[in-house]
Amino acid sequence: MTDEVREATAADRAGIQRLLRELHGEAADATTLPEIRQQARTFVAGDGDGDGDEIVGVLVATFVDYGHEPCGVVEELVVHPASRGSGTGAALLAQCKSWLEALGAEVVFVSAIDEEAAEFYLHAGFTRCTGPWLWAAAGQPA
Ligand SMILES: CC(C)(COP(=O)(O)OP(=O)(O)OC[C@H]1O[C@@H](n2cnc3c(N)ncnc32)[C@H](O)[C@@H]1OP(=O)(O)O)[C@@H](O)C(=O)NCCC(=O)NCCS
Repeated sequence: MTDEVREATAADRAGIQRLLRELHGEAADATTLPEIRQQARTFVAGDGDGDGDEIVGVLVATFVDYGHEPCGVVEELVVHPASRGSGTGAALLAQCKSWLEALGAEVVFVSAIDEEAAEFYLHAGFTRCTGPWLWAAAGQPA
């Protein structure tokens, strides 16, 4: 028989830790689940010409921490084609990483949109993920 699936409450914390020890050993004891600290921030870069300061770059990032390996994700990063190659992308990424590090992120992930974007992140010091990463489109039966 399938057990009932429900949203966790604070009363479930000990049980959650017991289960997470199967994955993370004693490190699971630091978990704060089911309470999660999470934030999102959008950074923009202006063209800096003082004439209305048009936005030429945007980066969206998220942060999540439930007591085990707090992490950040670069969700979106794009610089206007006419403004590429002059440090805007690097500046946005640097601000984002400072914000995430101040929050306590231990790792920053990004899913690069294509191989050219991946080369930008490699140049910025990111490392390719290896191992059993998987994904599913929303709406697919679980
Ligand atoms: C990827 C992107 C954000 C880079 O922005 P940018 O402002 O042109 O990059 P910067 O000028 O800040 O470049 C910083 C450094 O990265 C290098 N770099 C930039 N793009 C690169 C690429 N595709 N491959 C390798 N290195 C790259 C630059 O030469 C520079 O090196 P340096 O610090 O040694 O001088 C921009 O090209 C873009 O918007 N591309 C289309 C959207 C995209 O791919 N977004 C990422 C989605 S995940």
